[in-house]
Amino acid sequence: MSRIEQALEKAAQMRRGAPPLVTPAPAPVVQDLDRLLDAPALTPENFCLNHQQKSPGASEEYRKLRAQVVQLTHGLPFRNTLLVTSAAAGEGKTITALNLAMALAQEYDYTVLLVDTDLRKPSVHEYLGISPKLGLIQCLNGEASLDQALVKTGLGKLVVLPAGGTVSNPVEVLSSNRMKDIIRELKTRYPERYVVFDSPPTLPFADARVLSGSVDGVLFVIREGWTRMEDIRESLAGLAEAQLLGVIYNDATQTKQQGRYHYY
Ligand SMILES: Nc1ncnc2c1ncn2[C@@H]1O[C@H](COP(=O)(O)OP(=O)(O)OP(=O)(O)O)[C@@H](O)[C@H]1O
Ligand SMILES: [Mg+2]
Repeated sequence: MSRIEQALEKAAQMRRGAPPLVTPAPAPVVQDLDRLLDAPALTPENFCLNHQQKSPGASEEYRKLRAQVVQLTHGLPFRNTLLVTSAAAGEGKTITALNLAMALAQEYDYTVLLVDTDLRKPSVHEYLGISPKLGLIQCLNGEASLDQALVKTGLGKLVVLPAGGTVSNPVEVLSSNRMKDIIRELKTRYPERYVVFDSPPTLPFADARVLSGSVDGVLFVIREGWTRMEDIRESLAGLAEAQLLGVIYNDATQTKQQGRYHYY
């Protein structure tokens, strides 16, 4: 079982309330971001964090997504802060944000930061099989510095800022000046770095809409056989002011064509 499969199995166990199969090594707290540049490279084995990772086309699709994102965001100015959201729950926002961040971390050896701004139901740490004590919430309330809260994943140069828990007033917290300052700091501190934000769904909550005003671009996830057309319309209308970079069609049907697998 690969490291990622173990992490996924553990996350599934945690969701079921059962004790984890694998005890994760404690995640090191990063003191000096420059040291992250020494992280080991991703391997094909742990690249694709996806329950369908046995399908050979999945990691290739994330590479294509990476290529599109790089094309859309490079130039002057470099649009390096990207929000991943969708209309409703369970459409694949977190899994997409994580895979995109890992794919970008592989490209050109970028250091990539993945920030869990789902302060209602954070799950980035669960997918990675880590139990961080500090995160965005502690940075926002002054209990920790960014350097203390950032977690080096060991997956290439992917660094994570976990949510650090949940709050009762996420919209207020995410629209605060402190949050805007943190996004600005993350954007400018290492200007060559992508910062990917995972977020809650847009229809039930205003969180992602609030955040969309502070980032350079929004990636909107649609899940095949799951997302309703009217929800897409309503969601995108709510994001009308945002810089919509594109729509990611997740969990697409895999069909065999001309002897090769394709995703649609
Ligand atoms: N392409 C896919 N292939 C297989 N499973 C998928 C795919 N996309 C999402 N899933 C599964 O669907 C579930 C929800 O995925 P994920 O956590 O990424 O959704 P989400 O949009 O972040 O949900 P939430 O709104 O609750 O945060 C997970 O169990 C995930 O593994
Ligand atoms: Mg999620």
